[in-house]
Amino acid sequence: MKTTIEPATPDRLDIVADLAHRIWRAHYPGIITARQIEYMLARDYAIDALAGDLDRGIAIDLVFVDGKPGGFAAYGLMQTVAAPSGAVASTAAWLSKLYLQQSFHGRGIGSMLLQHVCRKCGQQGALHLRLGVNKHNRKAIKAYKANGFLVEQSILTAIGDGYYMDDYVMGKALDQP
Ligand SMILES: CC(C)(COP(=O)(O)OP(=O)(O)OC[C@H]1O[C@@H](n2cnc3c(N)ncnc32)[C@H](O)[C@@H]1OP(=O)(O)O)[C@@H](O)C(=O)NCCC(=O)NCCS
Repeated sequence: MKTTIEPATPDRLDIVADLAHRIWRAHYPGIITARQIEYMLARDYAIDALAGDLDRGIAIDLVFVDGKPGGFAAYGLMQTVAAPSGAVASTAAWLSKLYLQQSFHGRGIGSMLLQHVCRKCGQQGALHLRLGVNKHNRKAIKAYKANGFLVEQSILTAIGDGYYMDDYVMGKALDQP
């Protein structure tokens, strides 16, 4: 099995959108409703929405397994937080998307992609990487914990049309390059 990770340039966003639609419809039933799946796909995974992510400086990287698109991750620097004293500034990165086709789960590819994101964010100066994960997404929570992420917070976010994201925020300190 040969895996490569490559940036999703604007001309490849159709690959990201196609993967997202397959993965969400396979993985999220039982975690959120079918209507919420379609609502979030239309909102966040239309080509225009993904192009907007790239425009805002969010990186989207695709993983190919033996030349076939297997999944993707989206991440970027989030904010600079100064401590109340002003003495310490810490930069956090946010992993907004991590999705792998079901046929590729359980082979360490998700962990490899996560480690790639940690490395990239560390290279950009981030000291901490955070993400939101649905509280009922046991498989993903297990993968994040196996990679050193801890639950930091519990958040309920209204996302419009009466839908909510009922998430844990998980985070991990990053090694500096
Ligand atoms: C979350 C997700 C990316 C994790 O990907 P993954 O490849 O399944 O996870 P990992 O890389 O950690 O694989 C771990 C499993 O592979 C096994 N494995 C096999 N070969 C391995 C290797 N070479 N290296 C590491 N683990 C390996 C591990 O033992 C582990 O098995 P276990 O789960 O029975 O303990 C994936 O499950 C996914 O895309 N889920 C659906 C979408 C989703 O929920 N995304 C997150 C949204 S917040």
